[in-house]
Amino acid sequence: MIVKSIQLKNFRNYKDQILNLDPGLNVLVGDNAEGKTNMLESIYFCANFSSPRTTNDKEMIRFNQDHAIVKLVIKKKYRDNSIKIKIDSHKKKYVLVDDIPINRVAELMGVLGVVFFSPQEIKLIQESPDDRRKFLNIALSQQDKTYFRALNDYRKILANKNNLLKKGLTTDQVDTMLDVYDAQLAKEGEFIINKRMSFLNVLSNYSNRANEKLSESEETLSLEYETNISLEGNIQTNLYDSLVKAREKDKQLGYTSVGPHRDDIKIILNGNDARKFASQGQQRSITLAMKLASLYIYRNETGEFPVLLLDDVLSELDLKRQKILLDMLKDIQIILTCTHYNIDVPAKIINIKDGKVV
Ligand SMILES: Nc1ncnc2c1ncn2[C@@H]1O[C@H](COP(=O)(O)OP(=O)(O)O)[C@@H](O)[C@H]1O
Ligand SMILES: [Mg+2]
Repeated sequence: MIVKSIQLKNFRNYKDQILNLDPGLNVLVGDNAEGKTNMLESIYFCANFSSPRTTNDKEMIRFNQDHAIVKLVIKKKYRDNSIKIKIDSHKKKYVLVDDIPINRVAELMGVLGVVFFSPQEIKLIQESPDDRRKFLNIALSQQDKTYFRALNDYRKILANKNNLLKKGLTTDQVDTMLDVYDAQLAKEGEFIINKRMSFLNVLSNYSNRANEKLSESEETLSLEYETNISLEGNIQTNLYDSLVKAREKDKQLGYTSVGPHRDDIKIILNGNDARKFASQGQQRSITLAMKLASLYIYRNETGEFPVLLLDDVLSELDLKRQKILLDMLKDIQIILTCTHYNIDVPAKIINIKDGKVV
């Protein structure tokens, strides 16, 4: 799929801007702080209903304005779509898909597929499991509405259960309610774990191949699902048993300490845990490989490639790798940002200055 055009009104430093994009490589060129990443953020926002860099949607509204609007026109193999999102100063978001208002975010999921990569994404390897779970949740939600729904249901049940745990009550009634919550969590949780494991299975293969190409080495990369839940036999039963077993402890803690909301991706490079032992360069290459791999999985699941957003990535790679990367991705729409474009790959060059396309 491709994003044909972007229209921004009072979004970050853009006052009123329309940008048309090419199906292949699009390069946003400009000095620092001119608005290149802001443009990518607006596309990401339409795919995931959230920003890659803030949890406070209000930050995306242009200073001193009371609302922002992003509108994308998307061209797909079999149909075209438009997405329009308005953010107001009360943090409310209004979404129209094909000019029709939608009530549930699930209806937005899958309309646009986007993979985003920036140098900060290296935290995918280095930092807490949160970022790795987020990676799984975003990739799976975009390609599979049933996953998105199960994840939301799981989160709601978990929030209710944790509220009850926080109250610190110890009546029989509380235990009966906790039994109900745990049974529901086990049901949704099994679904989530199964989806994540089959995704990782495929992701592991693709990532290994992409990492080989990018690092030009014989390194072997593999990705595994890491969980405290036993995966032998019936996962729903195992998860339920683990939840019940942790219950007394969780009453002390005031939250639920086991379940897929605590799980992780184990990243193994040449037999070692990359989260601990990989060098900066290896981590960068692994992260990029995982992102590229998720492009292919999305294509397998939906029949077309998502749009690839590459923020400031070229400066991190040498010229040879820059070319390897862009050659690998010939069939995909790429929107790339940089301060200078000097690679021998044809592209639509878009100059950005002070919140304007010039
Ligand atoms: N809500 C906002 N309203 C107006 N300008 C903003 C807003 N948020 C960020 N900016 C401005 O956007 C610029 C940064 O844009 P960005 O896209 O990150 O730059 P770059 O071109 O380096 O990627 C800064 O000048 C910043 O002040
Ligand atoms: Mg930037």
